[in-house]
Amino acid sequence: MAEVIILPDARAAGELVADAIATLVARRPEAVLGLATGSTPLPVYEALRSRLGGADVSRVRGFALDEYVGLDPAHPQSYRSVIAREVVEPLGLDPSRIRTPDGRLEGIEDAGDEYEAAIAAAGGIDLQLLGIGTDGHIAFNEPGSSLASRTRIKTLTSQTRADNARFFGGDPDAVPQHCLTQGVGTIRDARQVVLVADGRRKAEAVHQLVEGPVSAMWPATALQLHPHVTVVLDPPAASRLQLAGYFRETRAAKPAWQGL
Ligand code: F6R
Repeated sequence: MAEVIILPDARAAGELVADAIATLVARRPEAVLGLATGSTPLPVYEALRSRLGGADVSRVRGFALDEYVGLDPAHPQSYRSVIAREVVEPLGLDPSRIRTPDGRLEGIEDAGDEYEAAIAAAGGIDLQLLGIGTDGHIAFNEPGSSLASRTRIKTLTSQTRADNARFFGGDPDAVPQHCLTQGVGTIRDARQVVLVADGRRKAEAVHQLVEGPVSAMWPATALQLHPHVTVVLDPPAASRLQLAGYFRETRAAKPAWQGL
């Protein structure tokens, strides 16, 4: 079962996860980070600014989870732009060592395989940061995704396009229909996975992820098969967990020297 940590709010969650990432980078300056976009990881990236300040991050590598297909890479909501703005620039990472899947239409047939090859050439991902969709997606592996899938094109559900409309002027139709996303199998290859969720809207997906049967209908449940997963929640996101009390007791009894 995943390690589940329930903290008072998203800021506390961001600080804990940032501590884990900073510890990894201090131990392994050439660490390969799996980077999530969306709202959830922003407090993590915010907290990382102070934690990585002064550290040698010149060798850190990073791979984003996904990218919209057909959106101009220079568009402010392309994940290439978001990662540059929220992660690369404020943390002082080397842009040439940070990649997003190439969602441009030209050559799109090969873009998934190329991305997989780039991750493999970097030696695989040390720590993958994840959010979760209200429909249980991880990256953009929507319900019905193969739990063995690799980086490929997916069609976004109307639920996800509605959820992401806030980034496109509130208009779900302005959200691209397709994306290039790491597969569930790609994510499962990461050596460590840290999934963060906050808010009641995520409570059902979190319940399924932690306590539901493993099913392609809730792709995040595939993480139950991963040996090193930590799920970091605020109380509303944890509100449907039957085992919430057990997770709180386990955490309270954990030796102080253990991190995530
Ligand atoms: C983002 C991603 C998605 C988001 C998920 C939650 O790269 O792959 O799985 O993590 O849609 O989005 P937020 O955090 O905006 O609620």
